[in-house]
Amino acid sequence: MNFKDIIIKKRDGLELRQKEIEFIVQGISSGILPAYQISAWAMAVYFQGMSALETELLTKSMAASGQTLDLSRVEGICVDKHSTGGVGDKTTLVVIPLVAAAGVPVAKMSGRGLGHTGGTIDKLESIPGFKVDLEHDEFIGQINRIKAALISQSGNLVPADKILYALRDVTGTVESRPLIASSIMSKKIAAGAQGIVLDVKIGSGAFMKNKDEAYQLTELMVQIGKKLNREMVAILSYNDQPLGRAVGNSLEVIEAIDTLKGKGPADLTELSITLAAYMLILGHKFAHFAEAEAWVREAIELGIGFAKLQDIVWAQGGRLNWEADDYGLAPADWVFTVTSERDGYIRNLDAYALGNIAMNLGAGRQKIGDIIDHRVGLEILVKNHQLVTKGQDIARIHASSETSGLQAQKLLRDVYMITDFPAATSNPLIWDIVT
Ligand code: URA
Repeated sequence: MNFKDIIIKKRDGLELRQKEIEFIVQGISSGILPAYQISAWAMAVYFQGMSALETELLTKSMAASGQTLDLSRVEGICVDKHSTGGVGDKTTLVVIPLVAAAGVPVAKMSGRGLGHTGGTIDKLESIPGFKVDLEHDEFIGQINRIKAALISQSGNLVPADKILYALRDVTGTVESRPLIASSIMSKKIAAGAQGIVLDVKIGSGAFMKNKDEAYQLTELMVQIGKKLNREMVAILSYNDQPLGRAVGNSLEVIEAIDTLKGKGPADLTELSITLAAYMLILGHKFAHFAEAEAWVREAIELGIGFAKLQDIVWAQGGRLNWEADDYGLAPADWVFTVTSERDGYIRNLDAYALGNIAMNLGAGRQKIGDIIDHRVGLEILVKNHQLVTKGQDIARIHASSETSGLQAQKLLRDVYMITDFPAATSNPLIWDIVT
């Protein structure tokens, strides 16, 4: 088989056969296919799409491209969650400890930053000493001991996605429904959990810009999961402005911990509670949303989720100062503030633009192999609809140099639109729940 012919076939909008898809996936994971041809194929998929059957075959082939985790030794019904990617989305760090604290085991395989969005693994690596590459036995042992473990695609876990993900990140091929669906679902299948909660993001900060696209992506992923006997719930949530206030790795870790202590922003807290409640339902801990939700709220109030996060960080070698306001995470060298130039209401805060500003500060990668700076990022102090007065601090920039900080300051001033009246309507945080 010739990869060039397959690229041309997809470029011309034709459906690929199982053998061709398997050839691509094997070629990617074995390292035989060059990055330029894989990227060209991804771009052809971006423009031409894939049928539901092609997407399913790609997912299965990617899931089988390496080791799959055997969770049969895990006691209880193992659950997992995955977000399709949004700006300021640190829900995993809040949700996993809460679910584990209820006694439901969580086997979580996460990714790195993608495009203008951050990734859980980069966030976890801002914690000194935190190990994201556990051996299989260590992973299972930790889940049985403390009910949760978080790992990256290290070793031989879904190698095809690991390579394709890194290429998509830097070649403008992230926003493709079949590529997103296969990337997420291959990891979920390889990680083995029986119950999966998806957080499908919509809006400027997400890869699906509108509801129609988000529903199509949901349908693709839910169908794949169901065919493979997984219990699936999808929560469609808006990310037209960042989730919470923090954008950037260690800033997001701080905000997630604050949230587990009951001091988090309302939107992050609400979405995390909803995600955790559905995971508890899939883990058969509760039958109804109301009781699951009430339990999660109480777990936050009582600090049970916070205590569980301490167990997880400790178990994976992380070192934090739990008493300090910044939990001992290293601060950036430079901090700049942005102040409001007038009185008025914040409007149309653009999560995509803010994600890009954070990425350019060094919180994300521009090309493969870029080293990210965990300390840099943004604090969005006021969000849509809020009334501000002239001179009020509206954002804080954490930068590694004066030049990058000043550049971000200028860009941020352009992102903030302040008007005499608030916008008449706004999107709800949670748009729909597909069970
Ligand atoms: N998360 C993933 O793991 N893959 C994608 O393509 C998007 C979000």
